[in-house]
Amino acid sequence: MKHIISPLDLTVDEMAELLDLAEDIIREPKKFSSRCQGKKLATLFYEPSTRTRLSFEAAMLNLGGSILGFSSADSSSAAKGESVADTIRVISSYADICAMRHPKEGAPLVASQYSTIPVINAGDGGHNHPTQTFTDLLTIKSLKGRLSNVTVGFCGDLMFGRTVHSLINAMVRYDNVSFILISPNELKIPDYLRKEVLDAKNIRYKEVKNLDEVISELDILYMTRVQKERFFNEADYIRLKDTYILDAKKMELAKKDMLVLHPLPRVNEIAVEVDDDPRAVYFKQAEYGVYVRMALILKMLELA
Ligand code: NCD
Repeated sequence: MKHIISPLDLTVDEMAELLDLAEDIIREPKKFSSRCQGKKLATLFYEPSTRTRLSFEAAMLNLGGSILGFSSADSSSAAKGESVADTIRVISSYADICAMRHPKEGAPLVASQYSTIPVINAGDGGHNHPTQTFTDLLTIKSLKGRLSNVTVGFCGDLMFGRTVHSLINAMVRYDNVSFILISPNELKIPDYLRKEVLDAKNIRYKEVKNLDEVISELDILYMTRVQKERFFNEADYIRLKDTYILDAKKMELAKKDMLVLHPLPRVNEIAVEVDDDPRAVYFKQAEYGVYVRMALILKMLELA
């Protein structure tokens, strides 16, 4: 049985199959509407979520399956001190597959070691967020037409942003991908990513502070929220939270076909005026999240 803890748990070929299946689902959703009849998805969310949890649930419902779960640690027995290991042992007998979000890095991995059903990491602390990565890859592939030969700019909180870490890990596997990492000094990518991924694989990248200087070079601009909940002190968060605000004026400097992605939720980092720009695809991206999760559930339950 396979779990999805990191985006690299799928090979490049498996990823291509997943994205192809998601595109089939987009074309012919009805064909898949009862594939998961009788199957249950449990969503175990120990941290807030809107899109990830609801898109997982919408995905299972679209496939004709059912859902159960909890949406905060407070409303589960975690509040009484139950371990993740005990919880998953029990949930294994209630559901066929589960998606888990947890503030502690590695919690879904621990769960997978005690689980008898497939476990999907729906975000673990500042570490990984594989299903957001699959969503991002589907968005780029569908709207840009390719995953190779692209310059991707990541802007904002590259230190704590798990969606950034996951997507970098996944994108270095495609040809001729380069990165421009745009952040204040305090929010640069973690050292392990720089050394063990970018340097180790000889990936072309540069680290800069100023978005205006580099926006014209980008094919994809991946904006991120400063991750308030991972800061040790509030003063640092307040000082850094509005470092970048993408607005219409900055968009004038960008390529005519640059795409703006954002995993959402947005706070101030993209001005609302940008939403009407055809290059702003973050709401479309959120919609793709449902299709890619439908495809993933089908693959993991071996129903496609
Ligand atoms: C992201 C997350 O939870 O890491 N949101 C999401 O899943 N779409 C990004 C964020 O919270 O900033």
